[in-house]
Amino acid sequence: MERMHDEKPKKKVTFYLLYSVFTAAIGSLQFGYNTGVINAPEQKLRRFFQNVSMERYGEPFSPGTNTILWSFAVAIFSVGGMIGSFSVGAVVTKFGRRKSMLLSNILALIGGGLMGLSSVSRSFEMVIIGRLIIGIFCGLCTGLTPMYLGEIAPTAVRGAFGTLHQLALVIGILVAQIFGLEFLLGSDTLWPLLLALTILPAILQSILLPFCPESPRYLLIVLNQEEEARKVLVSLRGCEDVSDDIQEMKEEGMKMAMEKKVTIPELFRSRNYRQPIIIAIILQLSQQLSGINAVFYYSTGIFDTAGVTEPIYATIGAGVVNTIFTVVSLFLVERAGRRTLHLIGLGGMAIFALIMTISLSLVKDNPSLSYLAIVAVFGFVASFEMGPGPIPWFIVAELFSQGPRPAAMAVSGFSNWTANFLVGLGFPKLEELCGPYVFIIFAVFLVLFFIFTYLRVPETRGRTFDEIAQGFASSAGKPSPVPEPMSVGLTEGKEAPPMSPTD
Ligand code: GLC
Repeated sequence: MERMHDEKPKKKVTFYLLYSVFTAAIGSLQFGYNTGVINAPEQKLRRFFQNVSMERYGEPFSPGTNTILWSFAVAIFSVGGMIGSFSVGAVVTKFGRRKSMLLSNILALIGGGLMGLSSVSRSFEMVIIGRLIIGIFCGLCTGLTPMYLGEIAPTAVRGAFGTLHQLALVIGILVAQIFGLEFLLGSDTLWPLLLALTILPAILQSILLPFCPESPRYLLIVLNQEEEARKVLVSLRGCEDVSDDIQEMKEEGMKMAMEKKVTIPELFRSRNYRQPIIIAIILQLSQQLSGINAVFYYSTGIFDTAGVTEPIYATIGAGVVNTIFTVVSLFLVERAGRRTLHLIGLGGMAIFALIMTISLSLVKDNPSLSYLAIVAVFGFVASFEMGPGPIPWFIVAELFSQGPRPAAMAVSGFSNWTANFLVGLGFPKLEELCGPYVFIIFAVFLVLFFIFTYLRVPETRGRTFDEIAQGFASSAGKPSPVPEPMSVGLTEGKEAPPMSPTD
């Protein structure tokens, strides 16, 4: 294992690797698209619900019932996400990584189909059930894609590859925001198409996936097919000598063989896993309780309150900033490290949340402050993408070795989706109660998460999965739970040299 430290990490990124990464990242694009798609056509969908009620019962739903039905249609997506993310562990262990991605597309076809046909069938129930199924699909994607990317990426660029999940995701949000414009697909007649469009990437991914390899880690460690794993690695790495990779996986596999199969309760019981699982959960919570989706679900309303004249374009602006800063993070993550970027992101978000509060509370008397509100929202989103956006998704795959990884992905994904659900459902009510001060709540969370990250989260950049797991195992044996031993290798200058993900 020491040998891995002393050798130069491999930098070569082959076409086949990029092809596989691109194909897997379509799943992330789907998650982003379906997160962003429901925002713009809100009024049209509400009207559709009313029309159906008129046709069926001769009268419209009461405004209260309509709002409940609407919130239900929005929030049920996250309930699906919880179910999907929680099932990831079981699904990948049974079907492998690649087949799981392939199978999950069936859900996209069903969910997209139901929503697309809801208008002609005069059924709002089909929108709601469609959103649930699409949510399950997206929940699976949030586990499958980061896991697959983490497992096929060379160690030196694993963070950058992990960030690609977030990049595809934010592109998905942006595409949904743009397609949702009234003169594109966000109109009274075309919204079913907007919702059904998720079928196209599902078909594309299903065509491309059969040419992607199964994860070599899954082949070697779970199925014990060394020859197959070697072949896959040779094509992915573009060189015949893949002995380092094989050696590293074998070491991980040997450790796994010594452990029993790791179930979810064991993650919390075992001293070796308790610390990383707590870190994984809190990082996921830091992502969602930062309040990011208060912006992504409700930004148009926020900009409206801030007196912005064309709020929908400010929302698209937020989507553009979101995408640009994910690219920035992509290039920084192997240079600055995960921990630093997460800290910078959380700190920045806390500051911008305060600026947002000040501008929203004073904008009534001073309309020019609406520009400050826009800057604050953009800054908030930009900081998010520096760290809290991408890092929690891929660091979970890094914090655990092959044995506990599926269970850990399930637990942390579930925590993320639950917090997402709570913010999505609770924000309108909180806003009603706190008015312009609502972002103070998130600022408080952000400060707490900053402190936690500073004290507890280790750096994982440039270290093999096995080294990371070792770090936790050795610190679990010590009285202090702080994983100092893990940063030793890094501070001694043995980490991966900085590099660009496209090298
Ligand atoms: C994420 C979050 C998602 C959010 C998105 C915004 O990774 O998981 O909930 O909508 O970033 O870019």
